[in-house]
Amino acid sequence: MRKWWVAISTIYEVAQKAGVSVATASRALNDSGYVSRESRDRVLAAAKALDYHINVNARSLTSGKTYTIALVLPDVTNPFFPAVARGVEDYASDNGYCVILCNTDGNARKESDYVRMLRSRKVDGVIFAVSVASKSRVSALTDDGIAVVLVDRDLGDSCDIVKTDNIAGALLATNHLIGLGHTSIAFISGPMSLATSQERFRGYHDALVSGGVSFDERLVVEGDFRMKSGYEAMRDLLRKPCQFTAVFAANDLMAVGAMTALEESGFHVPTDVAVMGYDDIDIASVTRPRLSTVAQPKYEMGWIAAETVIRRMCNPKASRMEELLQPMLVVRDSTVERRGASV
Ligand code: RIB
Repeated sequence: MRKWWVAISTIYEVAQKAGVSVATASRALNDSGYVSRESRDRVLAAAKALDYHINVNARSLTSGKTYTIALVLPDVTNPFFPAVARGVEDYASDNGYCVILCNTDGNARKESDYVRMLRSRKVDGVIFAVSVASKSRVSALTDDGIAVVLVDRDLGDSCDIVKTDNIAGALLATNHLIGLGHTSIAFISGPMSLATSQERFRGYHDALVSGGVSFDERLVVEGDFRMKSGYEAMRDLLRKPCQFTAVFAANDLMAVGAMTALEESGFHVPTDVAVMGYDDIDIASVTRPRLSTVAQPKYEMGWIAAETVIRRMCNPKASRMEELLQPMLVVRDSTVERRGASV
């Protein structure tokens, strides 16, 4: 039987072809340490000619690094998270790291399974958008010496974090509605177990108090950041005996669900009820009416999270790094001055 031998070139053959030492060839191929431009060019040309590929397993055995960053997200079907992931991947790949995506579906068991896998694979760093009470799972990673950066969702612990100032964002959203003359404003929150949801509720509440607008807890309904929960929350609000002329949903997907429920119930957006979202995902600019919202710097959040986790890998003893990004009000067609009677 014919034997098919695949010629797998080694670093020794690359060094010999380039006329340099193995150490020089290794530094040039791993971009680690000084190599003259002439030697680097010769090594890279030789590697190309020999179709040489770094053996990542051998490299990690010698360097103790896998050059791998894990990105743990709760819902890849929500366009907010792929926008963050784009920023992570661009920065990581520019700096020689690959990214593995872990989608937890907001499920504690899936989150635990992924943490167990990441510990066994010895990834260099984890960028973690937590979905449930995840402190123990984050600690399991850091106790193994794995660099962890929280993105978007805070745990109130010592972990590095990159997130938006959600209180400021919710203040922007609610004050925009108050500025349009709305004095009965409903709020559809995300899961109140999450810091982002608690922070947005606080911004909503503080804006009402500062604006002299009464707070009615019957106008607050909890969603789960998915479109269907925004639809159901609006149906729930419409069944209540309390009236409102505007609603602030804690993310765009729930705002779109709420708009659908309003239209199905015979109410016109925005003249009967103004609708405000949060995130500024692409769909917000194409709904009818186009959605007013609060933009989060999604790409930058991912880019900075990747930069932070690599800095943490290089300096495990550094003090906590926290990046608070600023939200931006985006006014479109779903919010107008109060006109009609409350619904
Ligand atoms: O849309 C998903 C929500 O979950 C976003 O607002 C983001 O901040 C995350 O917390």
